[in-house]
Amino acid sequence: MQMIPKDLRDLVTFVPNKAEPIHNWFYYKEGYSRRFVDWAVKEFGLQEPICDPFCGVGTTLLACKQLGLESIGFDVSPLAAFVSEAKTREYKIEEIEAVLQKFREMEPKQIGKFPNKKVRRLFYEKQLDDIYFYYKKIDEIQDARVRALFLLALIDTTGRVANVVKIGGSLRKQKKPKMPVKKLFLGKVKKMVLDLKRVQASGPEPEVFQADSRNVKLEENSVGSVVTSPPYLNKIEYTSIYKIELGLFFREQETRLRAHIQDGTTGRDFGTKMPLMAKAYFDDMGKVLKNMFKALKPGGKAVIVVGGGCFPYEVVESDDLLIEEAEKIGFKKLDKIVARKVHCMRNRTIKVGTIRESVLVLEKPIL
Ligand SMILES: C[S@@+](CC[C@H](N)C(=O)[O-])C[C@H]1O[C@@H](n2cnc3c(N)ncnc32)[C@H](O)[C@@H]1O
Repeated sequence: MQMIPKDLRDLVTFVPNKAEPIHNWFYYKEGYSRRFVDWAVKEFGLQEPICDPFCGVGTTLLACKQLGLESIGFDVSPLAAFVSEAKTREYKIEEIEAVLQKFREMEPKQIGKFPNKKVRRLFYEKQLDDIYFYYKKIDEIQDARVRALFLLALIDTTGRVANVVKIGGSLRKQKKPKMPVKKLFLGKVKKMVLDLKRVQASGPEPEVFQADSRNVKLEENSVGSVVTSPPYLNKIEYTSIYKIELGLFFREQETRLRAHIQDGTTGRDFGTKMPLMAKAYFDDMGKVLKNMFKALKPGGKAVIVVGGGCFPYEVVESDDLLIEEAEKIGFKKLDKIVARKVHCMRNRTIKVGTIRESVLVLEKPIL
């Protein structure tokens, strides 16, 4: 008998991760939870290695490591790939503590400025100068892993002191009280050390790649299972809400990452009677599903969390359309579990319909 957690609607969001050590090192609005991965692995008897072609900040990968399972992840965003890697490495705690002590003894001073003027406007000057100071000091840390951990702490601190809030898919300017960068940053590193001491993630380190999953070529029949959630149709322009982190630390101009899954075209496709943007989304998803199908071992399963598309005059039922796309490729549908339903509104007042967020379970048949 299938066991569906009562709170599945919460598990498909990142919220439960806020209370999970290491998972909560970087808040990612688009993520799902560690408990979702735990449930999927057990419920569907998922085999390793587990692949996540849209790994975001590494929830699948870290959950697998905690379960002692091998995994591999891809994300097109340099920020997401970086966070995934930093959260899943083995660390020597004494090395982190030694560097932390050196940082405690330093007082930040102005030594230069980030070149990105547009982003600079979103900070109090002194705070951004302090962030720049630590950024340069982090560059001097010898060990690459320790360097990455400190950089992740600084990226998190930067998000906290920036005079913006992430609302829905956009950044809104909002003045914040001037918080001391040193205290926040070193406090974050201290918390990370405590998490590493508390949490035993003894499984294998996952492989993480910054790559476009439409083009990844994995060896045929090399993957045991897939657990993932693709970017949602018409939902979040990933680069704009992370433009501060990308602009300061990854020298990424505001590229349109969303164009990597679903082209920004408007209008309709009369063959499918769908908005062109949705059509492009399913074409792109078809490419990723094909790659995953090839990589899966026969009998391997794919568990995919997908949300419906909310357009001004209609809803697009992504779960059913993705199943159709998957069946064309050769997948067999085992299940579709509706995790939650939300209203799709136009101008915040007119109800267009209801969109579903569903968990799809697909299988590559054994021939
Ligand atoms: C819904 S989020 C996944 C979040 C993840 N489950 C977690 O818990 O962190 C989708 C991710 O897909 C990534 N993405 C978008 N297009 C991509 C592509 N073509 N190839 C790989 N990753 C892509 C985005 O950067 C984003 O991190």
